Amino acid sequence: MKRLIKNGILVDAQGESQQDILLENGLIQRVAPQITPTPDTEVIDASGMYVMPGGIDVHTHFNIDVGIAKSCDDFFTGTRAAACGGTTTIVDHMGFGPKGCSLHHQLEVYHRDAVDKAVIDYSFHGVVQHVDDDILHEMQSMVEEEGISSFKLYLTYGYKLNDADVLRSLKRLHEVGALTTVHPENDAAIALRRSELVAQGKKAPIYHAHSRPLECEAEAIGRMINLAQLAGNVPLYIVHLSNGLGLDYLRLAKKAGQPVWVETCPQYLLLDMNHYLREDGLKYVLSPPLRPHAELDKLWVGIADGSIDTVATDHCTFPYSQRLDMGRDDFTRCPNGLPGVENRMPLLFSEGVMCGRITPSRFVELTSANPAKLFGMWPQKGNLNVGSDADLVIFDPHAKVTIQHQDLHDNVDYSPYEGFHCQGWPVMTLSRGEVVATQGKFTGKAGHGRFIRRKPFAYPED
Ligand code: URP
Ligand code: ZN
Ligand code: ZN
Repeated sequence: MKRLIKNGILVDAQGESQQDILLENGLIQRVAPQITPTPDTEVIDASGMYVMPGGIDVHTHFNIDVGIAKSCDDFFTGTRAAACGGTTTIVDHMGFGPKGCSLHHQLEVYHRDAVDKAVIDYSFHGVVQHVDDDILHEMQSMVEEEGISSFKLYLTYGYKLNDADVLRSLKRLHEVGALTTVHPENDAAIALRRSELVAQGKKAPIYHAHSRPLECEAEAIGRMINLAQLAGNVPLYIVHLSNGLGLDYLRLAKKAGQPVWVETCPQYLLLDMNHYLREDGLKYVLSPPLRPHAELDKLWVGIADGSIDTVATDHCTFPYSQRLDMGRDDFTRCPNGLPGVENRMPLLFSEGVMCGRITPSRFVELTSANPAKLFGMWPQKGNLNVGSDADLVIFDPHAKVTIQHQDLHDNVDYSPYEGFHCQGWPVMTLSRGEVVATQGKFTGKAGHGRFIRRKPFAYPED
C-alpha cells in the first residue's frame, strides 16, 4: 500500500517546510513540494498540520516486576497507548531478574513478553544488577549479537552498584560499544532519611519527597560525571532528571567537553511536589520524586537552551487502587512509577511549542531525533529522509483537547495529567507506513511491532 501525505508542514530536527511525503513498503519513498498520486495511492490531507518523525520514548517499563508488584501495562497495552499518543518506537528498561542471573536471562524474558504483543517497534536497554567477570564478558555479545547497545545501572534500589562496579561497567560498556545510562540517587542518604522519617511516624506521601530530596539526586549525578571521567572520559546518559542542581553539574561537564547527555520527563516539567499533599497524593509516588515548583522552570530553561537532550516518560504503571491498598498507611510500601507514554508528545507540544518555549524542530530533536542518534537507531528512525522507516505523527496545532483518563489506551486507572488542557494534538500515527492510530482511536494490531536490533553507540554528529 502506498500512502501520500499532502500539504503538510514537514518538520525534522533541522527545520520545517511545506512538502508532500510518499510512503511505500514501510519506508519514506519521496519528499517533494508537489507529488501527484497514482491511482493505487491513498491520499491523506495534512493541510494546516505538522508532519513529524514519530516519537521515540527511550524510557518505559512495561510488565516490570519491581519485587512488591508488577506494572500493569504489558507490551500490548503500553505500546497501544504509545501509538495513540504519537509515539512509534519505545525502548524499554528491563527489570531486575533473579539474583545472579545473566544479562541474556532478562533479554529472553523480555523478548517473550514483547513478541506478538507490541503494536509499534521496540527495543530494550540491558540492566546490570551485579558485576563479575562473566557479566563483563557477556556485555560484548549483548551488543554485537543481540543489538542491545545501552545498559542501565542503578545507584539505589536493591541491586544498586558500588563505585568500583560502576567504574568497571562504565569502562567495559564503552569498550564493547554500549552507552551507559544511570539512575542517579544517593542510596545511603535516602535510607537514613527514610528511616528517620518512618521512626517519627511520618509516612504520608509528602514524606516520599522529603526522604529523597534533590541533593540526593544531584550528588549522584556529580559522582557519575566524575566516575565516567575516571573510567576514561566515557559516554554517559542520565535518565529522568528532575532538578536544576543536577542540570547545572551536567552543564559544567558538557561545557568541559565531556560526553554526557540527559533525559527529563513530562512529570518533572509539569508537576510539583505539592501533588503529594493532595488526597490522592499516592498517585504521584515515583523516584526521583516530584520537586519544589521552582525546579520546573529550571528544567524548562534546559529544554529551551539545549542542555537537556531528550524527553522520555519512565512510564511505569501501578493502579491507584493498588497504590492505596499497599501504601495507604506508609509511602514506603507504595510501588514507584507514573503513567505517561500516551501524553508525552501532546504535553511537550502544547507546553513547549504552542506556549512558545521551543520550535517544532527542537520538539523533534527532543522527542525523536536525539533518542534515535543516542540509542543506535539513526538514520532508520528519528527523521523524514528518503529510505528511513515511515514512522510519522501528524499534529493538528489547532486541536484543543483536555486529557481525561477515560480517553486513554493504557491499562491503568488514572492519569497524573487529568484535566490538563492541550493546545495541539496528534491526530494520526503511522508505523512503517501503517496507520496505527487516528483521531484518538487505535487502529493497529498486536504483533506489528518489530524488535529493533540497535547499532553500537556512536557519538552523535551535530
Ligand atoms: O519510580 C520510578 N521511576 N520507577 C521506575 C523505575 C525507575 O527507577 O526508573
Ligand atoms: Zn530509574
Ligand atoms: Zn525508569
